[in-house]
Amino acid sequence: MKITVIYGTPRKAKSSTYQIAQDFINLLSDGDHVKEFFLPKSMPHFCRGCWECFTDHTKCPDFEYVSPIIEAILEADLLILTAPVYVYHVPGQVKALLDHFGYQWMAHQPRKEMFHKQALLISTAAGAGTRSTIKDLKDSMNFWGIARTYAFGRNTHAVDWDSVDEKRKLLFRKDIIRIARKIKAASIHVTPCLKVKGLFYMMRLMHHKFRFNQADVVYWESHGWLEKKRPWDRDRQAI
Ligand SMILES: Cc1cc2nc3c(=O)[nH]c(=O)nc-3n(C[C@H](O)[C@H](O)[C@H](O)COP(=O)(O)O)c2cc1C
Repeated sequence: MKITVIYGTPRKAKSSTYQIAQDFINLLSDGDHVKEFFLPKSMPHFCRGCWECFTDHTKCPDFEYVSPIIEAILEADLLILTAPVYVYHVPGQVKALLDHFGYQWMAHQPRKEMFHKQALLISTAAGAGTRSTIKDLKDSMNFWGIARTYAFGRNTHAVDWDSVDEKRKLLFRKDIIRIARKIKAASIHVTPCLKVKGLFYMMRLMHHKFRFNQADVVYWESHGWLEKKRPWDRDRQAI
């Protein structure tokens, strides 16, 4: 399986989220090359709010950083995002990255390839906050149109991987194997979950009725999504 991983921090050996991600990757990659990005190095800037991307995403002032990341995501079957909990949410650099992809939310110009992809979100906290952190990430996955999203959020009761209790690591390992099996089984034929399809139809109605941003409407029309084509419909796209 082709995997692209975006790590929320540069920590490796000591990082619980990194070590958990390695476990998933070993179970899922089947020897395929894994593309890796580390934040904040791979996206060292905040979104400036210039709005250029909503008309043409290649005009983003940070396109030199956005471009390799989006290309790697488009090539992958599975996207893995990791984020330790920082004050109950994703670290700032993760939010800064996600802001750069606002243009490809379903309300604007989603990529049809996303509707055939799976994502795995990994978050660890010392004691609390993985739910809200996973939600920070999941909102973007759903609105990007990612077909299936899985979450692995766990409390480590530790500040680094070495100090995580061995019994706890064993429990993690059991769940990692279970979720990896699910991802593998679903990868044979990836179809969007009900939530993602529901969001698509809501946004379609909005574009039909209100036609807020001309660039978005033109984009949706050019894909035939305001007519009978659907981003997840491989057969119709091939015709
Ligand atoms: C700035 C900062 C904020 C944190 N905020 C929380 C928090 O809100 N809740 C919590 O349980 N742990 C919090 N932690 C602890 C980390 O989430 C926890 O140790 C996590 O497992 C670290 O992941 P890592 O080993 O991959 O770096 C925080 C750590 C840092 C550095």
